[in-house]
Amino acid sequence: MDQDKRRNRAAAPLSERRALPTEQPPSPPAEPDAAALARLRAVFLEGRGADRDYWETEADLAAYDATFAQRIGWKWDHVLGELEHRGWRLPPGPVLDWGCGSGVAARAVLDWFGTGGVNGLYYWDRSPLARRFAVARARHKYPGLTVLEGWPPEPGLALVSHVLTELRPADLEALLAGLARAMAVIWVEPGTYEVSRALIRVREGLRGVFHLVAPCPHAEVCGLLAPGLETHWCHHFAAPPPGVFGDPFWGRFARDLGVDLRSLPVSYLVLDRRPPAPLPPGTVRVLGRPRVYKAHALALACSAAGVAEGELHRREHPALFRRWAAGDCPGWQVWEQQAGRILRATPLSAATPPTAPATPT
Ligand SMILES: C[S@@+](CC[C@H](N)C(=O)[O-])C[C@H]1O[C@@H](n2cnc3c(N)ncnc32)[C@H](O)[C@@H]1O
Repeated sequence: MDQDKRRNRAAAPLSERRALPTEQPPSPPAEPDAAALARLRAVFLEGRGADRDYWETEADLAAYDATFAQRIGWKWDHVLGELEHRGWRLPPGPVLDWGCGSGVAARAVLDWFGTGGVNGLYYWDRSPLARRFAVARARHKYPGLTVLEGWPPEPGLALVSHVLTELRPADLEALLAGLARAMAVIWVEPGTYEVSRALIRVREGLRGVFHLVAPCPHAEVCGLLAPGLETHWCHHFAAPPPGVFGDPFWGRFARDLGVDLRSLPVSYLVLDRRPPAPLPPGTVRVLGRPRVYKAHALALACSAAGVAEGELHRREHPALFRRWAAGDCPGWQVWEQQAGRILRATPLSAATPPTAPATPT
């Protein structure tokens, strides 16, 4: 089975909104190579990705593409769903997937937004094997699209996914200089403290070049850089497609690799030369999950006023408190507050209908 199809089909609510791929990949793994997956997992967990090119065979990429890459695809789906709701649209021009691995980031974007208006897909990776795999996979999946190895002269959209921990300072500097030529950038990473803090440094480096679309509800210096907030980080949680939990394929993967399928923390950054749709006053971006106590809950939230905790009292908002306690606390919300006490909280989706696409400047 095409692994993207497995991912998309499992995501029932999302699959209704997308054309499901029908092709088979060039080399569909009947069962991913367990030894390759264990080796790759050790490389990632031990942070050895910067040492050398770790893609040894095409089987490595096929096994990764069927498993780890699909989980990364779920994070991309989370980010792309938010962007769609914000009225964001693909910029015209070529798409570049930098540090592409098996190429899942670009496929997630094209599955979500379609290939119309995309005049070329470029895959770049330090590994020639990865570049070849990603190109072959995408050519097979999108037969009408020009798919090449390399950098386009002027990327419309540049994608970066799960590479920050593997980059040496000089690699990162060169990457940022290249990204500054794009119309828009979507960068998705694991939601760990170190990676989030590194992504904040990227944000500050590129803030003068682009508008900030997400997750930031403002364009000023990142609020987490304020004194006293050093222990916090900007992370969010993607939801795996519900079908995953009853799927024997994913059950085996979770058991054999010791992966918790429920946990998908994500840090991300979306930058665009086109201004984003304006947000209503009082918009906040909740970071992480609220801390729930007996009588109240505290949610760390970012807004134009900085990063601060909002306090929700059970007695005043019993139904909302129950939802937060059950894990249903939307990332984007509109709050009315008084001295940090939440008087009213509405999901941004309820506060604003989806907006028209932003127009290029
Ligand atoms: C963890 S994999 C992520 C692959 C893919 N972006 C994804 O999200 O599934 C990191 C990728 O970055 C590539 N990489 C690491 N350092 C790089 C560099 N300096 N230049 C280009 N690619 C690099 C690796 O070869 C690998 O394919």
